[in-house]
Amino acid sequence: MNRFLAACRREAVDRPPVWIMRQAGRYLPEYREIRRRAGDFLTMCRTPEIAAEVTLQPIRRFGLDAAIVFSDILTPLVPLGAELSFTPAPRIHNPVRSPADVAALRAPHRWEGTEYLSETLGRVREALDEDTALIGFCGAPWTLATYLVEGTTSRSFSHVKAFALNHPEAFDRLLEVLADAMAAYLAEQVASGAQAVQVFDSWIGTLSREDAQRWALRPAQRLLEQMADTGVPRIYFPNGGSHLLHDMPDLPCEVIGLDWRVNLERAARILPRHALQGNLDPATLLGPLDAIRERTRAMLARAPERGYIANLGHGITPEVPVAAVEAFVATVRDHRHA
Ligand code: CP3
Repeated sequence: MNRFLAACRREAVDRPPVWIMRQAGRYLPEYREIRRRAGDFLTMCRTPEIAAEVTLQPIRRFGLDAAIVFSDILTPLVPLGAELSFTPAPRIHNPVRSPADVAALRAPHRWEGTEYLSETLGRVREALDEDTALIGFCGAPWTLATYLVEGTTSRSFSHVKAFALNHPEAFDRLLEVLADAMAAYLAEQVASGAQAVQVFDSWIGTLSREDAQRWALRPAQRLLEQMADTGVPRIYFPNGGSHLLHDMPDLPCEVIGLDWRVNLERAARILPRHALQGNLDPATLLGPLDAIRERTRAMLARAPERGYIANLGHGITPEVPVAAVEAFVATVRDHRHA
């Protein structure tokens, strides 16, 4: 049985499925080893043999219920015209700063420019058994726009908010271009073997409710709607979006990912039609093993019986010990739905 896909559809499962955001990464010694030899993170993403191997590392080690393909939310911006590098912080060397920069973006009609990812997905799907689902992903339009305009991870989001306020039409156009490009990109991932897709809105939490509606939720909806006819479950992850849950009951997706600031029972009341995913504070994994088990059990006690996928509330960080991940995963695997 594929527990992950069943839970996305809110079907009954024996125990909650579990996977971890950023599960392939620097906290794993076998990842650091490959990373050291490959040298550069982008090279790893663009080499299907390496990307497939790294995708499978956490599956072999922890027996998770889903694999997420190894890539980054920013790599599909390269075919649109972004000059991207990682050190490992991402940098876009030609940020979008004017309406003319928006007009100059290449919006691929049919998706092309990330053929390496399609090959990686095919390789991973072949290596996985039927019980383990394969997740494709992309960034949400607002989150991608923050990187395109700021050029890097921002603290204040001054450039992108100033752009949105001073050039509202060009900014709406930018969000539409990103929504349509990412819809085509995800459709390509589904055609290559992805059985579910996750849309990361990592920076929606920086927006007021009004601005989030216009600049984040509306373009995310445009993206998600275009994925409806692929038939695969759609996960939307509005990081830091606890103030926005009341705006999401009609969002066209099957699963909503929650960060750790949200109470799972409250979220289930506000979002009765969605499956929920999350939401242990990743920093929990830096504490003692007993506290990890206790806090994980407390999270599971708050989770709905149907339509629930255990995960962290955001990506795992490089300092986390492997034993902490083992304790988290084992606690979920030992849990039985009543
Ligand atoms: O989850 C997985 O295992 C799949 C791979 C994955 C990566 N990035 C690999 C990565 C996924 C799903 C992402 C998503 C991503 N990338 C997001 C959304 C999730 C979130 O955290 O909110 C964002 C905002 C990015 C942008 C990004 N990429 C940043 C800010 C950084 C550097 C930050 C850091 O951790 O140092 C990256 C680099 C990156 N992406 C690494 C990995 C494994 C580290 C690269 C390395 O090995 O040096």
